[in-house]
Amino acid sequence: MSGYRCLVVVGAQWGDEGKGKIVDMLAEEAGLVARYQGGANAGHTVHVGDEEFILHQIPSGILHPGKRCLLGNGVVLDVEQFFQELDGLIARGIDAEARVGISGRAHLLLDYHKRLDHASEQARGPARIGTTGKGIGPAYEDKIARRGIRVGDLRIPERARELVIEAASAANERLRANGTELIDPARIADQLLERRARILPLMTDVGLEITRSVAAGVPVLLEGAQGALLDVDHGTYPFVTASTTTAAGAATGTGIGPTTIDSVLGVIKAYTTRVGSGPLPSEIDGELGIRLRDLGGEYGATTGRPRRCGWFDAVVARYSARVNGLTALALTKLDVLDTFKEIQIVTGYQTDAGLLDEFPDDLSLLEGARPVLETMPGWESPTQDVRSIGQLPDRARRYIARIEELTGVPIAYVGVGTKREQIIRIG
Ligand code: IMP
Repeated sequence: MSGYRCLVVVGAQWGDEGKGKIVDMLAEEAGLVARYQGGANAGHTVHVGDEEFILHQIPSGILHPGKRCLLGNGVVLDVEQFFQELDGLIARGIDAEARVGISGRAHLLLDYHKRLDHASEQARGPARIGTTGKGIGPAYEDKIARRGIRVGDLRIPERARELVIEAASAANERLRANGTELIDPARIADQLLERRARILPLMTDVGLEITRSVAAGVPVLLEGAQGALLDVDHGTYPFVTASTTTAAGAATGTGIGPTTIDSVLGVIKAYTTRVGSGPLPSEIDGELGIRLRDLGGEYGATTGRPRRCGWFDAVVARYSARVNGLTALALTKLDVLDTFKEIQIVTGYQTDAGLLDEFPDDLSLLEGARPVLETMPGWESPTQDVRSIGQLPDRARRYIARIEELTGVPIAYVGVGTKREQIIRIG
């Protein structure tokens, strides 16, 4: 995956594919890493030596000395959590503040967005989305309703105060209608303005920085959060997040033209997981699903929630390859399958409308779908110490080749553990 000019790294399933680790590895070659959507709903876990870092908003490139890390306009910036994360990195000896930049066009996510998120989930009852509770939906709602507050609004403190009080008062109306505890708009404005002196120096024109970097021949990495099936347009709507998680979002979410991007790497787990509500046609019920969850440590990095688990879903992967324009795949967590006698791959869905081999927009078809399964023999031997593709058991290589065949996308990396050195490069 070297030789790129501007590479987008996206989650190819429902998030939690291990993008953080892949971005951390690739950041070595890049000069600049930018996030383009989402906010603190993401949880990117990276292991460096014996240390574990969980990043929510700051790009995983921050763990590499000297790399510039930007948050694009497509991000919703949770101000309080951002500074907690930044201070946490500084406390661990990382010169993060000097290297982080935030778009003046990024929208601010404030306390009332989280309360609105909880209130809205409560109001939905059993039809809840299962959000992370980080206020993501309400922050994007404000953006699209053109009542959002942008980082650049902090330039003029009086204006920023007015905007916050206006938006927070409007939020109170909605909270009141929901019978939820109200917020104090003046307190939220004070808290934000206390951060102003520290945010303003971080403000930058992200699109301009990226364009200049690419023009100077310095590789740029655009780091997606969540996954394609959580995309607000292309995911399993309404059980999605509120942003464009697919590769096209990297252009609109940073302020570059789509032709600047020359490669798209899809990160995909060797099986499937999903956290939150919504259809998961590959889901394995019962003991086998629990075994996969425990072996894979499938608990949310942001919320700690147990993830639902299923076999690798080739219908999802093919769809994801198409909507993202994937040029390569990074297959992660192969080692989690080491002990299975048989491994299955979903190749289609049997539905009321017949056999589907392309991912449908109609959720009702997915809800009743029965997966069509292809069975492959497991390799039943440990792979965590494998460092080259040739050392992998034959059956593991056959599994990888089958995934390439079913998706039509070459696999450039295979992950066999959580450490940097446990990512095998192919070719
Ligand atoms: P929200 O992004 O908090 O609004 O949540 C919407 C949906 O996206 C829920 O199903 C969440 O579980 C899911 N989601 C959001 N962020 C992540 C993530 O980083 N990994 C996996 N699922 C996520």
